[in-house]
Amino acid sequence: MIKVFPNLNYLNQFAAEKFIEIGTEAIEELGKFTVALAGGSTPKSLYQLLTTDEFCSQIDWRKVFFFFGDERNVSLNDEESNFRMANENLLKPLQIQPENVFRWKTELEAADKIATDYEETIKEFFDLDENPPAYAGGSDRLPRLDLILLGMGDDGHTASLFPFTEALNERLKIAVANPVEKLNAKRLTLTFPVINNARNIIFLVKGADKAETLREVLQQEIQPNKFPAQTIKPTNGNLFWLIDKEAAQLLE
Ligand code: 6PG
Repeated sequence: MIKVFPNLNYLNQFAAEKFIEIGTEAIEELGKFTVALAGGSTPKSLYQLLTTDEFCSQIDWRKVFFFFGDERNVSLNDEESNFRMANENLLKPLQIQPENVFRWKTELEAADKIATDYEETIKEFFDLDENPPAYAGGSDRLPRLDLILLGMGDDGHTASLFPFTEALNERLKIAVANPVEKLNAKRLTLTFPVINNARNIIFLVKGADKAETLREVLQQEIQPNKFPAQTIKPTNGNLFWLIDKEAAQLLE
């Protein structure tokens, strides 16, 4: 589903209502709500909105468990840290308990070690078989999050699945370190299989600088290596593209 909003405020209002709706349903059905947060700058105002009186009392935050779709390999208090942005704008204001937050442990320093640790953390939380039988390639060995929030870069990346990078081809692992040449860094990211195994995926995209890429991603030919966001397709779930008017301006 693609929804275009006059501006970010309207987009965030819808996104916050959808967050609460999905979370309430998950808690009713499963007793908990698992959500992977997006990084970057777009989600910041949504996180702040969720902490306002209008929304903060609408869900039992003790039953909400937070993960991160991706992370930069920096310390927790680094300006670049996705954890830091979420912690300052959502987790701390809501007084979310540490046992409800599962972050990439960048203090482990080596990117591959951080990714392996995160994979093990997720497998343990979702009680997944450590060594699934080889044939169990299907979704029975993947965590199924209730909601994954995503942004999209103006190059068509999402999470830290950047164009022409090796993580685009990962079909078995849940969490990987992904070398991104143009950033001269190894980024940390969930992989397509686990993202596409989510019950709900919400893209949050704003700004004229995304318009051309959005047209390519949503309405032009499929080029998964060039536009990784095109590969986001839930195998058994809902996909929402929440876009502001600026970003949608080139869509037919
Ligand atoms: C990150 C994000 C990334 C982000 C896009 C859009 O770690 O940077 O996970 O995928 O969502 O780059 O970023 P903006 O919201 O800042 O445009």
